[in-house]
Amino acid sequence: MDKIVINGGKALFGKVKISGAKNASLPLITASLLTDKPLFLHNVPDLADIRTLHKILASLGVKVTQKAEHSWEYQADGITSFTAEYDLVKTMRASFLVLGPLLARFGECKAALPGGCAIGLRPVNFHLDALREMGADIEIQEGYVYATTYGKRLKGAEITFPKVSVGATENTLMAATLAEGTTILNNASIEPEITDLAECLQSMGADISGIGTSRLVINGVESLHEATHSIIPDRIESITYAIAAAITKGKIEITDARLDHITAVADALTAMGAEIKPLPNGFSCSGEGKEIKGIDIVTTPYPGFPTDAQAQIMALMLTAHGQSTINETVFENRFMHVPEMQRMNADIQLTDAFSVTIAGSSELKGAPVMASDLRASAGLVLAALAAHGETVIDRVYHLDRGYEDIEAKLSACGADIRRIKAPVKGDSENGNSDNITA
Ligand code: EPZ
Repeated sequence: MDKIVINGGKALFGKVKISGAKNASLPLITASLLTDKPLFLHNVPDLADIRTLHKILASLGVKVTQKAEHSWEYQADGITSFTAEYDLVKTMRASFLVLGPLLARFGECKAALPGGCAIGLRPVNFHLDALREMGADIEIQEGYVYATTYGKRLKGAEITFPKVSVGATENTLMAATLAEGTTILNNASIEPEITDLAECLQSMGADISGIGTSRLVINGVESLHEATHSIIPDRIESITYAIAAAITKGKIEITDARLDHITAVADALTAMGAEIKPLPNGFSCSGEGKEIKGIDIVTTPYPGFPTDAQAQIMALMLTAHGQSTINETVFENRFMHVPEMQRMNADIQLTDAFSVTIAGSSELKGAPVMASDLRASAGLVLAALAAHGETVIDRVYHLDRGYEDIEAKLSACGADIRRIKAPVKGDSENGNSDNITA
C-alpha cells in the first residue's frame, strides 16, 4: 500500500485548480444507463472511484471512451448484463446507483448490497422502499438485491424519504425519469450534486421541476436522448485546500471552484478568523497573520456544514486558540480519525459517540498514522501539514478515491510531501476491459 510522507510546519502559498466533483460524477456516469444514446461528460476527475465505476459499467456492456484528459463518452446501446457484482460493488458503494437506471430502462437489476463501511452501516432501505413504491418487486438473497418489474414500466409515485439521503434521492430521481406518470420526491436531498444530476437529466430530455428544492416533481418520458454536460467542481476538495491555507497560516487561491457551494464552511472559517475572498473563478483563503479561534460545529445535510468536511475542520480546530466541539449527526461512526490525530499530540475527547471536544492550541507532532476512510485521510494530511516533524500516512488508497493529484497540488504551494509507492502487484485496480478505451 502506498504511503504519503509529509514534513509539516511550512506555510503554503500558491494556487490550486479544483477537479470535477466525485460525488456528482458517480451518479452522472450511471445516468448514461438510462438511454442508448451517447452521454458526454466533461470535467470528470481522474480518481480511483471513477475508474472502478468505469469497470462496472463496462462489465454491463456500456462503451466507456475517453475523449480528452477529463472528458468521457458513455454509450449504453449494447447492455449485456444487469448484474453489478459484489467484488466490484464492495470496493465502491456508489455503484449501487446502477439500480434505478437499470430498473427504469430494462425492468431488471441484480445488484450486490453495498454493505457497510468504516463510517457507518450505510443501509439502502430508502432506495429499495422508494423503488417498491414505483412498482418494482425487490428481494434480497445472499447479499444481492434482485429487482424486477416483470416487464412493466415503473410507475410514478409520491415518495417521502424518512431521512435526507443523497443516494436514495439519486437512484429514485433517475428511475422516475422513465417511469409512467408523475413521481414526487419529498424530503429529497438538495446537495449541489443532486442539482447537477437533475440538470444533466433535463438536458437528456427528462421532465423535472423543483430542482434545488427538497420537493422534486418528475413527469416520466418514453426515452432520453444524447447530451453533453460539464460536471460541477468538487466542493469538498475546495474546502480541503482552503483549510490547508488556514492551518498552515498561508494563503491559497482556489480556482475552478464554487464559493456558493460551500457557504456554511466559508462562514465557519471566517468565524474562526481565516480570510475568505471571492475571485472571478473561485476564491482565496488566508490564514496568514491570523489568529484562528475555536468554534462549535454541527454537521447536517446541505446547506448545513457537510459531514464530508468534518475531519478536515477538526484538523484546523486542533491548532485553533480555544475550545471547539463537533456534533456529527449524519453518520454513526465518523470519528475514526480521532485516535490517529491523538497520535500526533492532539487533545481530543469523545464526549459521546456523536460528539467530540477539542481543547485547541495543540503543538502537533509528526507521527506514523493510518488512514481509515477518504475524508479521515484528508484530515490527517491537513494535521500533518501543520505538525512539526515527519508524518507518514499509511493506506493512502483511501485518499486516492477522492483527491486527484493531491501531492502535486500541495507541492505547488510549497508543501514538503512525497509518496512512497508500494511494489506493484499486477494491474488489480484498473483491470482491462474490452469496453474501456482510455
Ligand atoms: C453520499 O453518500 C456521499 N457519497 C457521501 O460522501 C456523503 O457523506 C453522504 O452522501 C452524505 O452527504 C456519494 O455521493 C458517492 P446518504 P450516501 O444516503 O448517499 C442513512 C465521501 O466521502 N441512510 O445521504 O450513501 C445513512 O446511513 C462520501 O465522498 C439510511 O438510513 O449518504 C446516513 O446516516 C462518504 N438508509 C444518512 O442516511 C438509506 O437507504 C445519509 O446517507 C440511505 C441512507
